[in-house]
Amino acid sequence: MKNSNKTTSSLDTYLLEAKNITHNFDYPLFEDINISLEKKQTIAIIGISGSGKSTLLNIFCSLLTPNHGEVLYADQNIFNISTKSLLDIRRKDFGIIFQAHYLFRGFDANENLEIASLLTGNTVDQELLNKLKIDHVMTQGVGELSGGQQQRLSIARVLTKKPKIIFADEPTGNLDTQTALEVMDVLFDYVELNNAGMILVTHEEEIAYRCDKVYKLNNNKLEQLK
Ligand SMILES: Nc1ncnc2c1ncn2[C@@H]1O[C@H](COP(=O)(O)OP(=O)(O)O)[C@@H](O)[C@H]1O
Ligand SMILES: [Mg+2]
Repeated sequence: MKNSNKTTSSLDTYLLEAKNITHNFDYPLFEDINISLEKKQTIAIIGISGSGKSTLLNIFCSLLTPNHGEVLYADQNIFNISTKSLLDIRRKDFGIIFQAHYLFRGFDANENLEIASLLTGNTVDQELLNKLKIDHVMTQGVGELSGGQQQRLSIARVLTKKPKIIFADEPTGNLDTQTALEVMDVLFDYVELNNAGMILVTHEEEIAYRCDKVYKLNNNKLEQLK
């Protein structure tokens, strides 16, 4: 068997590896994209609107199967494993933060977090709620929260799962500058304290350059800027 005598798995080095990713819709969107994410590492992807950032992030986090290429997590190509294994990874290991937050609107803020803690067996971290400044709105219904509060609640819900990798698409899009910086602090601290990793899509260069690596999606290619 190939590599049967290796003593370390690539998981010791990389949390996630994407290899030769190519995707087209009606036209080629990007081709031969390669990245690797290590523990405690953060990667930013910037690029103009329509360049394919969200599509690429959807591929990295398993929600979209690319035309070509593979994404390796725990030594396995996530597009080549059983549905059950993939759902398990998405539920427990991947923390996906989107622009549109999928909160349960018939429930209050607390109940939305309890769902994440029930699914993964982790407790809700009050400190996290304080840092995100939503500790005082936890008994309110989702519909009574402002857009920014809903966004922070969805971030709290994702972090409550204790994911290994955070995939975030414009996570601070709805927030004022000060709150955005505080929310990013929470995400960067989470990665550092939990040996996790993060791939962040943003159009804000200042936030992007706080990451360890910065890539720009341009002319169908991913160009490394940092
Ligand atoms: N499911 C889809 N089907 C067809 N075209 C799509 C689909 N999703 C995105 N696109 C197109 O792909 C391009 C890149 O979109 P997107 O990844 O959302 O870019 P970005 O996040 O950089 O703004 C856009 O032109 C968009 O219209
Ligand atoms: Mg987008």
